[in-house]
Amino acid sequence: SMRCGMTRVEGVCMLEPFAHIWSRVCAFQAFSDDLLIATYPKAGTTWTQEIVDLINNDGDVALSQRAPTHLRIPFLDIPKIADLPQFPSGLELLEKMASPRTIKTHLPFQLIPPSFWDQNCKVIYVARNGKDNAVSYFHFDRMNLLQPEPGTWSQYLTRFMEGNVPWGSWFDHVKRFWDERENHRILYLFYEDMKEDPRREILKIVEFMDKKLDDEVIDNIVDRTSFNTMKDNKMSNYTTFPATIFNHEISPFMRKGTVGDWKNYFTINQNKLFDSRYKLEMENTSLQFRTEI
Ligand code: A3P
Repeated sequence: SMRCGMTRVEGVCMLEPFAHIWSRVCAFQAFSDDLLIATYPKAGTTWTQEIVDLINNDGDVALSQRAPTHLRIPFLDIPKIADLPQFPSGLELLEKMASPRTIKTHLPFQLIPPSFWDQNCKVIYVARNGKDNAVSYFHFDRMNLLQPEPGTWSQYLTRFMEGNVPWGSWFDHVKRFWDERENHRILYLFYEDMKEDPRREILKIVEFMDKKLDDEVIDNIVDRTSFNTMKDNKMSNYTTFPATIFNHEISPFMRKGTVGDWKNYFTINQNKLFDSRYKLEMENTSLQFRTEI
């Protein structure tokens, strides 16, 4: 199996191959006009990538979709996979990329390369409620053959709550960026808000990026980044990705794209356990989530 093991980097659970690029990632030199999209895995990264890319190209679909999403917006914290030339490392892609760059990361706040903060880079952070995030991550770990074996849903949920999954604890991730949002140029968004009113949230991104776009352009971006449109678009649905890594027959990358799917997975007891864990982990933050809209 190609599935990776896990290791700890600065105390955070990470995929084992990340340990080998960590020193290079940490020394990464950001430019002041880099835009970082930061998320916990499965919080809406790909969705946000497409929105940002369309905004950057003034709504021009041909420009923004010229290549698959993972090649347009490098993933800072993913190493090269040796025998797959069509899957270069994020660091490799970034070396060749013209500014202004949009970069994707799942790193928790404390592992973000310091140059992003030194350069006062803009960061768009997207958070998704923990219950839906766990369900989405479970299915992703089934279909992504590089991720550790998820086991049963019940086994997986236990690991998720312990932070024993790649990129560590969901609680720490969402909380730390929330607590830091006013010390840096961080736009903190919620998946649930984006589902509720995508236009409103897209306008927040447009303003954050200091762009001025016509109403029709905004309407077009809303349409192009709907779940169904992105699901049918090979430049954003990850079907161009090597099938040896993503097996969409097990579970498609564009799976459901909804709020509240957790209700189809959590038993009453699992829900109780999650809620009490949540209370413990989140008692010192003003951060709040909606688990339905
Ligand atoms: P589900 O597994 O719940 O369907 P990421 O891009 O961070 O890996 O997140 C993937 C999750 O976002 C998946 O959730 C995927 O379906 C959902 N998603 C992707 N594009 C979306 C869109 N345009 N609208 C809503 N959800 C989207």
